[in-house]
Amino acid sequence: MANALEQNVAKRRTFAIISHPDAGKTTITEQLLLYGGIVREAGTVKGKKSGNFAKSDWMEIEQKRGISVTSSVMQFDYQGKRINILDTPGHEDFSEDTYRTLMAVDSAVMVIDAAKGIEAQTKKLFKICKMRGIPIFTFMNKMDRDSRDPIELISQLEDVLGIEGYPMNWPIGSGKVLRGLYDRYNNRVALYRPKEGTEKYLPLNDEGELQVASDLPNDEVYQDAKANMDLIQEAGNQFDLEKIKKGDQTPVFFGSALANFGVETFLNAYLDFAPMPGDHENTLDDEEVQPTNPNFSGFVFKIQANMNPRHRDRIAFVRVCSGEFERGMDVKLERTDKKLRLSNVTEFVANTRENVENAVAGDIIGLYDTGNFQIGDTIYTGKQAVKFPPLPQFTPELFMRVSAKNVMKQKSFHKGIHQLVQEGAVQLYTTYSTGDYILGAVGQLQFEVFQFRMQNEYNSEVVMEPLGHKIARWIDPDQLDESMSSSRNILVRDTHDQPLFLFENTFAERWFHDKYPDVKLMSKL
Ligand code: G4P
Repeated sequence: MANALEQNVAKRRTFAIISHPDAGKTTITEQLLLYGGIVREAGTVKGKKSGNFAKSDWMEIEQKRGISVTSSVMQFDYQGKRINILDTPGHEDFSEDTYRTLMAVDSAVMVIDAAKGIEAQTKKLFKICKMRGIPIFTFMNKMDRDSRDPIELISQLEDVLGIEGYPMNWPIGSGKVLRGLYDRYNNRVALYRPKEGTEKYLPLNDEGELQVASDLPNDEVYQDAKANMDLIQEAGNQFDLEKIKKGDQTPVFFGSALANFGVETFLNAYLDFAPMPGDHENTLDDEEVQPTNPNFSGFVFKIQANMNPRHRDRIAFVRVCSGEFERGMDVKLERTDKKLRLSNVTEFVANTRENVENAVAGDIIGLYDTGNFQIGDTIYTGKQAVKFPPLPQFTPELFMRVSAKNVMKQKSFHKGIHQLVQEGAVQLYTTYSTGDYILGAVGQLQFEVFQFRMQNEYNSEVVMEPLGHKIARWIDPDQLDESMSSSRNILVRDTHDQPLFLFENTFAERWFHDKYPDVKLMSKL
């Protein structure tokens, strides 16, 4: 008989939804919350659409953009499982935090607009999931609109992302002629608009033929979908759970989040295959920390800047990796070897839940922080010291030259910049030629947060000069020759004193490569 901790851990399913802006992530999240019994008004997941954030006193920038801590982690119970959805903001809100959030999940759901196919941001986020080797489940959304050819969508997964697609169901038409889904996983046809008083699902027999009388077999749209499904059954990828677990194959579901069609089917099948929390490596002894280990451990994957400038506090988001979190417990912060009492904590619990349980592996807790934590920190209890692997650094794409507006205030400028960089808010580079500071980020919001916090927390007004998109490439310090630098490839050093070039564009990079063929250019990820 499993103990209570084992039972609780086995119930956890923690995932993030990755998608390109407008593919329908918010819409599908809201549908999932509805299935979880969390009734929210439509539009409340994305505060900016409803204006619901007005009451909270979060930081101004975040208010303007409608991001709030409460929608960063959504937890609900469904069919005996406890589900944690971690938000990965898109648009201008895209930041290193978005990437790091993917370090804290056990699987990912990829939402694709079926009319558009795979888009840029999906590709970037997918890359991180792939690197982690976590299972990825795909939802081809907006089938109520004219979509691309489903065969093309499946082959795009392989061609663009390098992951095999395994269609769990197949759309019968799209847009105006969407009839339903041919659902080979559940052996049924799900009708998009069943006639009033008739069944929504029509069962299929072992040969995949409809078991009940229906007009569908005479419908060309159905015949087409059935022919495609038969073809895929014959010649397509085989369902392979081992590949799914490693992120080499993705189960694909079609549907419409807006029409709430195919979402429940997706959710149920997702829960059949999504993994429970896994082990995490302890770098101090090369052993794996099991999620059911009774000693508590977790790591900080995100720090959300001060919600209230008067208090200057922040929230450190911790992914629990083992044991059980209890309010007021003492933990050790591995980096400093100091004891901390976790009393001021936000648990991201569903507001409708009655039995509040403690957080276990897979759950996220938010610690109110006055400057103790840094991104990647490990906290733990017990005699055995734990240190989880460092979080990867993500190659920035946007750059800003930054300086203090008031030269008399250099001290606070330097203090602020170094603390914010340590916290992981932005990345910092210094030019070889002049010692200027250049900030790097993956999203514009990071600069805005930086500027705001410098002003509010360090009383340092900064001047930012956009350098735009650049391609960052590290080189071996032994190969460094400062004369290789030019205005089109700025030579800088990172905070670990490693040299890199910021190339203006791919043309500049190629030119450099042709000129110095022996110098190896490396990207971080
Ligand atoms: P995001 O979080 O990925 O950015 O996307 P979001 O859910 O906000 O959806 C983007 C737009 O696409 C929204 O329309 C939404 O209603 C629409 N949408 C989402 N899923 C579907 C679907 O299955 N079918 C169709 N036809 N549309 C879908 P909007 O007009 O931009 O926003 P709103 O003003 O309606 O909220």
